Amino acid sequence: MSAYAFTEEELARIEAFCRRYPTRQSAIMPTLWLAQEKFGELSPPVLELVAKTLGLPPAHVEGVATFYSMYLTKRKGKWLLELCTCFTCGECGGRELWNYIQETLQLNEEGVTPDGLFWFREAECLGACDTPPVLQIEGRRMVFSVTPEKLENVLKGLRAGQLPPFESVPIRNPE
Ligand code: FES
Repeated sequence: MSAYAFTEEELARIEAFCRRYPTRQSAIMPTLWLAQEKFGELSPPVLELVAKTLGLPPAHVEGVATFYSMYLTKRKGKWLLELCTCFTCGECGGRELWNYIQETLQLNEEGVTPDGLFWFREAECLGACDTPPVLQIEGRRMVFSVTPEKLENVLKGLRAGQLPPFESVPIRNPE
């Protein structure tokens, strides 16, 4: 089997995505996500595989993959961590935390630590402004009200290959 191929089970999942929508083109986003989870990034051969599997023009698939920041056409570090520095998070500790991260982890100009383990990016609002600042990991986990201590714990877990447990966005009930 080529290095760039979906398994039978993955193909079945993609077909299930296609059945949810009126056209195969509409299944492009979940299929790109599945491909990214499998291959780590959406490099040109992965984009070609997605295009072939869905029967779409490669340029169309590339257009979607390069439009949304959650898709990585080139992975720069093993773990992607995105800190929200948008208005609320930025004003409520996010900006200071970003400076702390840059200084203590010695990020290069691309936001990557010297060992290539962590790749940091600033994020726009992640939709959890009630619990600033917010950190998103690999687009799959969110950490709320991040402090340097909380961040150090997250990094410790990631060094051991562990994502933090899933936490829903906390919703406060107005009283
Ligand atoms: S401003 Fe950071 S989650 Fe909204």
